[in-house]
Amino acid sequence: MTITIAIDGPAAAGKGTISKAVAARFGYGHLDTGLLYRAVGARVLDGESPLEAAENLRPEDLTREDLRSADAARSASQVAALPDVRAALVDFQRAFARRQGGAVLDGRDIGTVICPEAEVKLFVTASDAVRADRRYREMAATGAEVTPEGVLADLRERDARDSARATAPLKPAEDAVVLDTSEMEIGEAVAQAVAVIEAAI
Ligand code: C5P
Repeated sequence: MTITIAIDGPAAAGKGTISKAVAARFGYGHLDTGLLYRAVGARVLDGESPLEAAENLRPEDLTREDLRSADAARSASQVAALPDVRAALVDFQRAFARRQGGAVLDGRDIGTVICPEAEVKLFVTASDAVRADRRYREMAATGAEVTPEGVLADLRERDARDSARATAPLKPAEDAVVLDTSEMEIGEAVAQAVAVIEAAI
């Protein structure tokens, strides 16, 4: 059985939490594809060229402690606009998607480019204010020196770049189910995602 669940959406909409919960619920593997771009972005901050970083990405890059920083996020979104960098990461993502036993991939272009044949496509979104508030709390809890205004500005800048790029822009696939989590507790968002998946598989 190879079932693929594609979960896309803007930053801090709840994709990561929903993806982890759904993968655990159905016993599928989970790949946070944002981590691939963050790891490339982090290697570029270390001085490597974007393509070299993407082509030489190693498993240990995905566990670097600095991947959740604002700098890594910004650098990720800059390298993610480069078609060569995206192309270098396609095979790994598609191989994961075909994994026996099912796979959940979350990102920006999973339903549109990486896995257009996914059995289930969700586009998870929420208002800018709600997303910024969630991300601010998350980062502040780790001790990062952030302000709510700074986090909101970073999210908007990143979403604008991700949506405007020519290659694989952030947008819902035509056949995606849109889940707006602005007014939902995380438990409800997960329950709705599970219901969509159960109806489809
Ligand atoms: O999901 P996350 O916020 O960790 O992603 C970091 C950045 O990586 C995004 O802002 C986006 O530019 C890029 N990305 C992408 N395509 C994906 C996943 C992430 O372009 N499938």
